[in-house]
Amino acid sequence: MKRIGVLTSGGDAPGMNAAVRSVVRSACGFGLEVVGIRRGYAGLLAEEFVELGPRSVANILHRGGTMLGTARCEEMKLPEGLKKGAESLRTASIDGLVAIGGDGTFRGAQALAEITDIHIVGVPGTIDNDVYGTDYTIGFDTAVNTAVEAIDRIRDTAEAHQRLFFVEVMGRTRGFIALDVGIACGAEDVLVPEVRTNLDDLCANIQSQFAGGKRASIVVVAEGDDAGHAFEVGNKVGGRLHMDYRVCVIGHVQRGGAPSARDRLLSSKLGAGAVKVLAEGRTGVMVGEVAGHVVETPLNLTWSRQKELNVEMLQLMKTLAR
Ligand code: F6P
Repeated sequence: MKRIGVLTSGGDAPGMNAAVRSVVRSACGFGLEVVGIRRGYAGLLAEEFVELGPRSVANILHRGGTMLGTARCEEMKLPEGLKKGAESLRTASIDGLVAIGGDGTFRGAQALAEITDIHIVGVPGTIDNDVYGTDYTIGFDTAVNTAVEAIDRIRDTAEAHQRLFFVEVMGRTRGFIALDVGIACGAEDVLVPEVRTNLDDLCANIQSQFAGGKRASIVVVAEGDDAGHAFEVGNKVGGRLHMDYRVCVIGHVQRGGAPSARDRLLSSKLGAGAVKVLAEGRTGVMVGEVAGHVVETPLNLTWSRQKELNVEMLQLMKTLAR
């Protein structure tokens, strides 16, 4: 192994820059050259390469987004796209690849590995935390903190007006962000896709909380909830209760901003872990952190196995929302 490529792909996540920095500087320690691939797989297909050394990654540890850029690349899902990707890697003399992203990124990396002799390793970077093989993904902690800060502000105005709010957070098809945000901001209820939403129960809950003297109610809605997006849930509940309500979609605000210290630490650990995997001659795994330790999980398990949401925490949320 002489020369490794690094790319960030899919939705950006705070901490991706810190991971790139860790990959580049750790690779230096092993005497490996590093090539940055811009715009994820889209940039790979277009041969958008940039040589990276320790100084190229100065001053990015604390920045959100990704200095390499990212993309969602449909072409990589097609055999011609994959073939082109393999050719590009050969052109750049890359013999190891660190792919930072979520399950789509790993599927692309695995497919490339199947048609080349390139060694690949994944680093979980997505705010959604929906990757099996790691307790947390890079960006999740920052996104949760950002959403909590936003909801703290919403609570001020909600209390002032004695209002009901539905606040939508991201997470794609999973409720990791919603659950942690809900508990951390003292939400009155949390709707996650993993648990079927019962609108009668939700309405009864809201009514009894107001009757019990609460001055505001904040319902955190995961964007993938089975009852619909926050506007739909608000419409249904507001209609049934004949209550004024407001909706706030936090949206992409959650994806930006400086990474939290936790995300910087996780990125630094996993970037270094990924380079170690390649330097030691292993391939086809994702490096994650489980119970504080860096562990390797076969790439295909990261999407074929489902990471469980601790739904018992919903009970805690309800207990504390009295
Ligand atoms: O996967 C990260 C994520 O932010 C999801 O939470 C969200 O559903 C999706 O990406 C949004 O993607 P885009 O930025 O392409 O609209």
